[in-house]
Amino acid sequence: MSDALLTVEDLCVDYVTERGWLRVVDKVSFEVQPGEIMGLAGESGSGKSTIIQAILRVLKAPGVITGGTVRFDGKDVLALDKRGLRGLRWCDISLVCQSAMNALNPVITIGEQLGDAIEAHEGVRRSQALVRARELLELVGIEGSRVHAYAHELSGGMRQRVVIAMALALRPRLVLMDEPTTALDVVVQKEILQQIIRLRRELGFAVIFITHDLSLMFELCTHVGVLYAGRLVEHAPSQALFERPMHPYTLGLMRSFPDLHGEGDDLVGVPGNPPDLWKPPKGCRFHPRCPQAFADCSTRAPQLRALVGHRHAACHLVDQVDQLDQLDQLDQVDQEESP
Ligand SMILES: Nc1ncnc2c1ncn2[C@@H]1O[C@H](COP(=O)(O)OP(=O)(O)O)[C@@H](O)[C@H]1O
Ligand SMILES: [Mg+2]
Repeated sequence: MSDALLTVEDLCVDYVTERGWLRVVDKVSFEVQPGEIMGLAGESGSGKSTIIQAILRVLKAPGVITGGTVRFDGKDVLALDKRGLRGLRWCDISLVCQSAMNALNPVITIGEQLGDAIEAHEGVRRSQALVRARELLELVGIEGSRVHAYAHELSGGMRQRVVIAMALALRPRLVLMDEPTTALDVVVQKEILQQIIRLRRELGFAVIFITHDLSLMFELCTHVGVLYAGRLVEHAPSQALFERPMHPYTLGLMRSFPDLHGEGDDLVGVPGNPPDLWKPPKGCRFHPRCPQAFADCSTRAPQLRALVGHRHAACHLVDQVDQLDQLDQLDQVDQEESP
């Protein structure tokens, strides 16, 4: 029925602690199509990294996937054995995280590191692997001659480019990026990300991208998912979300960002703090902080519902709005969006 590259359905993840099992990802569902760049937004602690790690089955203990399914290109990821997982990681799906640039091996050259990965997975000869290593470096904007360099001889930005080259080495179809450039200065950050987007166009991989920088997210992503306290509250094409967020939390999140809506906007943000996941609020988890909450919100949890224009939102308010009125408004937005 769907030709999605990745399908995540009702994913649940718990951390097993001395106090008991803490549910930090609660029935999260979304799809990623081939070539799509999906951003994951949400305050710190909302479960973004946990979701990404669960998709690749690299969750660190005491994290446990307690429910749901993850399918990649028809493969049931949660059912894969060790061998299947080895094939999945790097070849099908690769991961770049914030601290990755510090994980490069300091005692062998970057060319050897790239070459090792290519040689091991593709069974090509050493000389061929080194040629590929050079090409990969050039792909991410580093001179091929730097294959002979050691990690400590490179700047932070260069090291992160090397890590991205490694993530692309085996031509994966999905690249997971968890704040891949947060440790770098803003200019370098933007440059690297724009390069990734260009590469994506050439090589055709899909991306799931986490960043704290919402304006960067809207600029780079084709779709954005918004998480609140372990639940997905909104998911929509990036442009649609930017122009008309449906969930009050998304709106608050956007309003707390200076660059998003031009000068003169007050940074209203989202007052209060995310809930304690040990005792999350009943009903909609966002209701204690929601300026528009009404009685239903504290008793019934809203479900993520498909709306027109490929939007999804989990909010009683959206459910309540007169459907015709809502469709009218959304159609208008969608018409303006189409070229
Ligand atoms: N090892 C752990 N033990 C217990 N709880 C954890 C552990 N790691 C993360 N958590 C909790 O899981 C939730 C989600 O964390 P995370 O996925 O890192 O969020 P994000 O990436 O959105 O900041 C947070 O509430 C965090 O406190
Ligand atoms: Mg994180």
